[in-house]
Amino acid sequence: MNQGHSKDSTAESPLIKLTSVSHTFSTATGPLPVLDGLTISIAEGGFTAVVGPSGCGKSTLTRLIAGLMKPDSGEVWLHGEKVVSPLSTVGMAFQNPVLLEWRSIVKNVMLPLEIVAQGMPVLEQEERARYLLSLVGLEGFEDKRPSELSGGMRQRASLCRSLVHKPDVLILDEPFGALDAFTREDLWQIMHTLREEEPFTALLITHDLRESIFLADEVIVLSGRPARSQYVLPVDMPKKRSLDDLYTAKSSEMLAVLREQIKIAQGNTASASA
Ligand SMILES: Nc1ncnc2c1ncn2[C@@H]1O[C@H](COP(=O)(O)OP(=O)(O)OP(=O)(O)O)[C@@H](O)[C@H]1O
Ligand SMILES: [Mg+2]
Repeated sequence: MNQGHSKDSTAESPLIKLTSVSHTFSTATGPLPVLDGLTISIAEGGFTAVVGPSGCGKSTLTRLIAGLMKPDSGEVWLHGEKVVSPLSTVGMAFQNPVLLEWRSIVKNVMLPLEIVAQGMPVLEQEERARYLLSLVGLEGFEDKRPSELSGGMRQRASLCRSLVHKPDVLILDEPFGALDAFTREDLWQIMHTLREEEPFTALLITHDLRESIFLADEVIVLSGRPARSQYVLPVDMPKKRSLDDLYTAKSSEMLAVLREQIKIAQGNTASASA
């Protein structure tokens, strides 16, 4: 059972639910409203991408879902329980994977198990980590140090680490943003493999519209700061996708809609620095 929840039997269905979430930061130059009445639902097993102008509040949204901070108003729910403090069953991956250089790759992947699954025998922890590493094509690299791997390989290892403890939710904050285009496309395909083998519910923050439609079931476009949900695009593609699916007329149409929405959102962004 997750920590950081307060149970409310009246809350139901979606795995992640945000209801009218608003948040304002206090800054040296005054209050900075960042989120404005955000309402989002993600069903169990769903994959939602969030796109929006830089500085509109996307990373703030991920911190709220992970219970790392509380909204000024509105509520965040996970599995029908209100999120009130940091959650151990949220897996997170970021743009720059922070792997510990003094640990081997497999030991880095095992780290969350050492924290949240202390009862699991070490051999079993290692077996699970090695299994995930093999799913992402890193067999043979398990005993290397992070610095011996390429950026794309480190990001694969980081994805394994974020999934090793079978989190309820996987939060991805621009995890592929720093990779070259080919490596990024490899990682997109690996995400599909992982989703098939290790079903999870995901929220992906990205600036890459092709990435959003390739990976998600639904794309939410946030307005400029303070962010509201400006537009929701259901991604009309089969769950199993190949890169060719990005070059169909339907995909071009979806991308055109998203580009247009982003333009509108950028027009809405307040002039204060992000
Ligand atoms: N702890 C904080 N205190 C004050 N202001 C903050 C804090 N965290 C974020 N902000 C501000 O809130 C706004 C939203 O930040 P956030 O990181 O959520 O944006 P973002 O959409 O993730 O941006 P990017 O696309 O560039 O990653 C920014 O203007 C940022 O400067
Ligand atoms: Mg961000």
